[in-house]
Amino acid sequence: MDAVTEITPYELLGGEAVLRQLVDRFYDIMATDPRAAGIQAMHAADTTLIRQKLFEFLSGWLGGPQLFIEKYGHPRLRARHMPFAIGEAERDQWLLCMFQAMAEVPMEAALRAHLEEAFTRTADFMRNQ
Ligand code: HEM
Repeated sequence: MDAVTEITPYELLGGEAVLRQLVDRFYDIMATDPRAAGIQAMHAADTTLIRQKLFEFLSGWLGGPQLFIEKYGHPRLRARHMPFAIGEAERDQWLLCMFQAMAEVPMEAALRAHLEEAFTRTADFMRNQ
């Protein structure tokens, strides 16, 4: 496939509307599921900004518009997470919220498997303990 005909994960997912829905569910679940209380406590009480930032980051990460880079430059995602103690427990809490949010969005099995693998790899990369 060349760059013109390639369908991105962003498009397969359903574009901006579905990505916003996924991100909103992710933070709603983090705020309410007691199993995610550890990482919930790391986040600001007002999640308006982080919802927007994760949406913008994932937009580019999934092959859609590079909204985060346009605003903030190179993501340096691992460096941006250094202020937070992230070990296996925190990684797993993050993935619990994301997999639960994904379960509420209809998508093809191949895309689901791809996203689960990619989120798992990225979340593990964020570990600093
Ligand atoms: C592995 C477990 C993770 C934990 C515990 C974690 C936690 C956090 C926290 C506490 C913040 C700051 C929130 C705030 O300002 O209120 C943050 C920011 C952010 N996180 Fe994570 N995160 C994790 C993994 C990820 C992953 C896998 C991604 C992307 C796929 C991601 C994307 C982001 C982005 C884009 C920001 C905003 C960065 C900025 O501009 O400051 N995080 N994260």
